[in-house]
Amino acid sequence: MMKFSTISFLNPKITQFGIDLSDISIKIAQLKKTKKGYALSSFGRKEIAKGLIEEGEIKNEEKLVETIKEAVKEVKGETIKTPYCAASLPETESFVEVIRMPAMEKKEMAEAIKWEIEAHIPLSQEEIYYDWQIIGREPDHFDVIVGALPKKTVDPYLDVLIKAGLKPMAFEIESIATARTLIKKGESGAFLVIDIGAKKTSLAIASNKSIFFTTSISFSNISFTAALADSLNISFEEAKKIKMEKGLDDLDPKSRIFQTARLHFAELIAKIKECLDYYTDRCSASRKEKIDKIMICGGGANLSGLALFLSRELEMPAEIGNPLANVELINSVIKIPEEELSSYATALGLALE
Ligand SMILES: Nc1ncnc2c1ncn2[C@@H]1O[C@H](COP(=O)(O)OP(=O)(O)OP(=O)(O)O)[C@@H](O)[C@H]1O
Ligand SMILES: [Mg+2]
Repeated sequence: MMKFSTISFLNPKITQFGIDLSDISIKIAQLKKTKKGYALSSFGRKEIAKGLIEEGEIKNEEKLVETIKEAVKEVKGETIKTPYCAASLPETESFVEVIRMPAMEKKEMAEAIKWEIEAHIPLSQEEIYYDWQIIGREPDHFDVIVGALPKKTVDPYLDVLIKAGLKPMAFEIESIATARTLIKKGESGAFLVIDIGAKKTSLAIASNKSIFFTTSISFSNISFTAALADSLNISFEEAKKIKMEKGLDDLDPKSRIFQTARLHFAELIAKIKECLDYYTDRCSASRKEKIDKIMICGGGANLSGLALFLSRELEMPAEIGNPLANVELINSVIKIPEEELSSYATALGLALE
């Protein structure tokens, strides 16, 4: 499995746990190596009080440090004894793209990539952390995946984690970690991984070997609930209840819920189509290759009937991704409850590094 992390201080001998920080929650997962692969040893989720992180920006460092410490202490399963961790960073702030480069030696490539980054990102080299990897070697060119994150996004997270007593070994763009855990080792094909979170939705095109593209949109669980509340003229809490209980199952196409969903999901559908086109244009070697299927995860994947809705709208296979695709259940110390599993995809992907 490819290890594409934007900043990595990785030492393969150290086992690290995954810590996924969003605006509203901290999710933790730790795996242990077994003879055959990995087993789950601990997991946990802690809500982050309102106002500590807003749109990915840390607003209250002191309180966040406390919340992180508590989250680590309160995990279920085995106690976390290592300070080494891999953390997620919001896709919104990142730049990930496949660029086409003339064939050249690795050393020359490193130099050429610097220039390419300068051309693609509105920040200077001193202001970013970046990483790259050759993913395709064609006779006339190389396809190179480049990822970059602004230091001003990364450094505050690094600071907070260190203050919480942790030793971050890698920072990864959320969707890259998520794709790693959903795609089973050895599985062939290309997939569109969609993480529907509380505040945003991240999309990644990936195969077993590589990430091709990531992007995100403001469409989210919360925005959908708000749209439902608005359309049905009910409170946010009532709308949330309807969403959780009914979802998109067995809905009459004429019903208000279905119509609201259709209208609201249009942003997501449009973005998915854009991603599918991007893959055919830029990433697939034969230009005829298509994405094999859509895999959904994040809390929003629990919306009943969503996979079927997406596969009908897009006329392609869509399913709920399994965040434990690369984890052995039999040797696991603890089990994540079914209804929470989709939310742990990013944390598990970070732990799997
Ligand atoms: N059965 C369900 N049906 C619909 N939505 C659900 C269901 N269960 C959970 N959710 C939604 O999932 C959301 C939480 O998702 P998740 O844990 O992926 O968010 P997050 O990772 O904290 O946020 P983000 O990735 O946006 O920063 C909540 O807003 C909740 O309403
Ligand atoms: Mg998330």
